[in-house]
Parts: sequence; C-alpha cells; structure tokens
Amino acid sequence: MAFGWIDEQARARRAAGLVRTLRPRPADSPLLDLASNDYLGLARHPEVTGAAADAAHRWGGGATGSRLVTGTTELHGELERELADFCGFESALVFSSGYAANLAAVTALAQHGSLVVSDAGNHASLIDGCRLARGTTQVVGHADPDAVRKALGTHQGPAVVVSDTVFSVDGDAAPLAELADACREYGAGLVVDDAHGLGVLGDGGRGAPHAAGLAGAPDVVVTVTLSKSFGSQGGAVLGPAAVIDHMVNAARTFIFDTGLAPAAAGAALGALRLLRREPERALRARAVATVLHTRLTAEGLEAVRPDAAVVSVRAPSPERAVRWAADCREAGLAVGCFRPPSVPDGISRLRLTARADLTEEQIEHAVSVISRTR
Ligand SMILES: Cc1ncc(COP(=O)(O)O)c(C=O)c1O
Repeated sequence: MAFGWIDEQARARRAAGLVRTLRPRPADSPLLDLASNDYLGLARHPEVTGAAADAAHRWGGGATGSRLVTGTTELHGELERELADFCGFESALVFSSGYAANLAAVTALAQHGSLVVSDAGNHASLIDGCRLARGTTQVVGHADPDAVRKALGTHQGPAVVVSDTVFSVDGDAAPLAELADACREYGAGLVVDDAHGLGVLGDGGRGAPHAAGLAGAPDVVVTVTLSKSFGSQGGAVLGPAAVIDHMVNAARTFIFDTGLAPAAAGAALGALRLLRREPERALRARAVATVLHTRLTAEGLEAVRPDAAVVSVRAPSPERAVRWAADCREAGLAVGCFRPPSVPDGISRLRLTARADLTEEQIEHAVSVISRTR
C-alpha cells in the first residue's frame, strides 16, 4: 500500500497521546477566549472589520496576482509605508503570511557560504527558513548571546543571527540588545521575528526591536505577522530600503505567491491606525499578562513570568495537558495546549493569551477554572 506508512504513524501518534484534531469555531462561541493570538482584542473591532469590508468592496475579494504582476494595490503600498513608519524602519514589504515573511527573510539573507545562527527555541517558520536557505545553519542554546558569539567566531564570510523576539511557547523575550552587540562584534546581520511583540511591546506597541533601541538600525531586519495583535492576516519584513529591494528581487515566497488579500491589508491598516490612537491597549495586554501570572502562581501553578502577552503554564504530560485543556473547555474556557513536537524541550503546557480586552472578572474566572481543573 502506497500510504500504508501513514497508518503506522497514526498508531504511534495515538499511543503517544499526540493526535491533533480540528474543532471548527462557531461565529458566536460561548467560550471565554484565552487561546487565540488576538492580543489587543481587535479581530472583531468594528473599525477593523469595517476596514476589511471596505477594502474588499473597493479592491476585490483577492489580490488577483503575485505582487510583481497585479497583486500590489495602492492599499498594500499604504500599509507598507505606515507599518514601516510605526515600527521605525526605513521600509516594509507585506507578505501573505508571517510564515512566508520568515521564509523570505532567512532565505534571501543567507545565501551560499553564509552562516545562519538560530536560537533553539525559534518558531517553526524560522526553522523552515533555515532549512530552505542555501547557507549553513548552526542552532545555539536558547537566549544565549555567548553561544551566538562562539558560533559567529567559527565562520568566515557573511552571517545572520535569527531569533524570535518573544518565544511563542513560554512567552519569554530574547536578549535583543545583547544579540545585536554580538552581531556587531562579528559584522553579522540580525533577523528577528516580532510576531508576539508587535502591538504589545515597545512604545505604544511598536514592538520589541523598538523597545530595544534597534528600530531603523542598518544591520537589523524584523519580521512581523498581521495575524496576532493586528487581528488580520498576513506578514511583513521591515528593514533598510536596500534589504527590502533585495527581498522584492530575491525572496521566492514574495515573488511566487499571490499578494495579500485586500481585506486583510485593509483590516491590518485599520488596526494599526486604531493602535496609534489607542496606545494604552499595548500596556493593558502586558498588565493582564502580569495579573494572570501572579494569580496562577498564587494558586500554586507553575507559570512562566511573561515578558509580553503569552502566559505559559506547565503540565505534567502531553495526555494531562490535553485533558486539562478539554476540562477548561467543558467549563467554558478556551486555552491553548502545546505539546511535542511543537515544544522544543518536550514539556507540555497550557498556553494562555492575555488579551487587552479581558475584564477583571474574566481574568478571575479563567484563573479559577484553570486552577480547579488541574
Ligand atoms: C513566532 C511566530 N512567527 C511566525 C508565525 C507565523 O505567522 P502567520 O500566522 O502570520 O503565518 C507565528 C504564528 O503564527 C509565530 O508564532
């Protein structure tokens, strides 16, 4: 049987308690949401959905082609200019997803003969970028600038260091300023994925690189997603104009992919303008994360101190994590469940999102459900 091996794998997955299933979400879910990445509570904000609808009416249901053919509308240009300005970079380039933006950044900046130094806790999309890149990858210990220095010291020629700014599993932040120092000592570029920092960290949500004083630096390139704090879909690369021009000419996930749908570009632009007007949303998301962490820890749970809006709670095993998340769901609370192979260290966790629009009562309710279902 051509695909007989799939049954074997499915059996092994079941035995290890690692089966994944899809659960379509109704439009009006009764669950309290601590599972999504809608950090600022903007995905359903009328200004964001209105901007999406307006864009779809004006520009169409799809971008109609790749960015270099018909898929670049004036709306894409507007979004790129405003995003670059907000985050403090010279230029920006929008992609159909954050995943595509990460593949683009790593592959286009790590050509033959380059070294890519990659943090062991990086997101799958950066890892896949390393796998596709023509350069050689060296994986180094998590959040360890000395390990980065050691790796860079072994190489002659161009090098880039790639890291998440906020790690998606534990919600801890990378030591960005130290990483930039290490890169500068060796003349390497720094590529950071601010998927979980944009909208949450930095002045008014301008992101972790902005907070670390790296915005606009000539040797720093940032990737972001529009699908988390911005409540939309899509991704972007931000950096010096020459790097962005290089992406337009060399990044395959830019060149060979249909442009971001106008509705998503419109929604992201709507969210960005709203955040400029209401910068306190970023602070609130961080404050909710701190309260969640404090309250869960007081209940005796093992939660990692959050650096942004992700709160991670350790579970004893993959099976217990799945059961715990299911029990929370039964009790009306949606939480994320991370387990192997999505966790680099093999430790399963519940993953909670500290949304800016959670009320004190909702936070208390969430803590009590998580605590009593442990
Ligand atoms: C750290 C990180 N980078 C990149 C991505 C991919 O972004 P997108 O969902 O826009 O493809 C994600 C999650 O989705 C993420 O958590």
